[in-house]
Amino acid sequence: MSLLPEELSKRLQAHAEYFPRREQAILLCLHEVQDYYGHIPAFALQEVARVLDLPLNHVENVVSFYDMFDRGEPARHRIRVCVSVVCNLMNSNKVLLALKELLGISLGETTKDRRFKLVGVQCIGACSEAPCFMVDEDTYKFQSKEKLHEVLSRYT
Ligand code: FES
Repeated sequence: MSLLPEELSKRLQAHAEYFPRREQAILLCLHEVQDYYGHIPAFALQEVARVLDLPLNHVENVVSFYDMFDRGEPARHRIRVCVSVVCNLMNSNKVLLALKELLGISLGETTKDRRFKLVGVQCIGACSEAPCFMVDEDTYKFQSKEKLHEVLSRYT
């Protein structure tokens, strides 16, 4: 028995049956779930895995790989930090540490007031300026913890 509402479950099933191989429907199914809930809850991952006949960790890896998928509680603003090896060499860990300290949350978590969600991604398209971070669609170069605090205060 599906844990999802019937209409959503039927759409996932239709996507799975449309393609020659069920796993080819994975992105469509994940978009359906995210459109329905605003994010991708854990129980829905299990359902996507079941419908597509895939191991759960495969579905989890796909969701983690794509920045467009959000697994946790929704927030008013998303802060994205590149966690790639390349940017790590450019001290992106300093950005992450400063954000964690300022917000009191870890990657993938949302602040209690739902103001910010902290997301790790593989690239934010600012490689040459690293270390950088994004708040919603705005990109900033990390300068200091104080400057970071000032930037975040612009987002209510
Ligand atoms: S690899 Fe980190 S911003 Fe592109």
